[in-house]
Amino acid sequence: MQITKAIFVKSSPDEKGCPKPDKPEYAFIGRSNVGKSSLINSLCHKKDLAKTSAKPGKTQLINHFLINDTWYLVDLPGYGYARTSKSNLEKFEALISEYIITRKNLICLFILIDSRLEMQNIDAEFMEWCADKEIPFCIVFTKSDKLTRNQLNTNIFKYTNQLKKNWEELPPYFITSAETGAGKEDLMNYIGENLQYFVAP
Ligand code: GTP
Ligand code: MG
Repeated sequence: MQITKAIFVKSSPDEKGCPKPDKPEYAFIGRSNVGKSSLINSLCHKKDLAKTSAKPGKTQLINHFLINDTWYLVDLPGYGYARTSKSNLEKFEALISEYIITRKNLICLFILIDSRLEMQNIDAEFMEWCADKEIPFCIVFTKSDKLTRNQLNTNIFKYTNQLKKNWEELPPYFITSAETGAGKEDLMNYIGENLQYFVAP
C-alpha cells in the first residue's frame, strides 16, 4: 500500500462532528508528544499535513485526512497532558473515548509508544480500556532513530515481555521512525491488508 494522495478534510471537537463514517478509518493515539502527527506526515510524504510541535498538546481536535480518496487517517489529541483544569481534562478525555467507542468505521487504533521509555501506567491503562471495550489496536513504537540498534532491541524486548505478563496474545506491533521512515512499509502493508474488513454501516 502506497499513499499517493492525502487531503486534510476537517477538524472536529467530537464524534458527531466527524465526516460520515462511510469509509474505513485508522486513528493514531498516544501520549502527547509521542509523535502521532509526525508519523502521519511521514506516511503521507508531506511535511505539514498534520501540525506538529516540540511542545506537548499541539493536536487538540479530531483531525481527518482522506487518503487515496478511499480511506481516512485520523490524528487524535494526545492523552496524559493536563492542559487546563481537571474537569476540562475529563471532558476532553470523555469526548475522545466517545469517538473511539462510537465510530463505526474505525478498523483499528494505532497506539503510539515512545520506544525510549519503559511501559507507562497511562499507556497500560489505556490498552486495558481498549480491550475492555473490544477496540482492536496495534502498538506503534516511535522515534526509533533516537536509539542505537542494541538499545532499541533491548527496549522492545522488555516492553513486549511486560505486555506478555498481562496479555495472552501480543497485539501486532511496529517499530517506526518519522525521521528515517523505518517501519513505515510494514505499517502501510498492515493498513492495506485490513482495509477489506470495512463493512459500510
Ligand atoms: P500532540 O499533538 O501534542 O499530542 O503530539 P504528537 O504525538 O502529535 O507529536 P508530534 O508529532 O507533534 O511530535 C512531537 C515532537 O517529537 C516533535 O518535536 C517531533 O519533531 C518529534 N518527533 C516525532 N517523531 C519523531 C521521530 O520519529 N524521530 C525524532 N527524532 N523525533 C520525532
Ligand atoms: Mg499531534
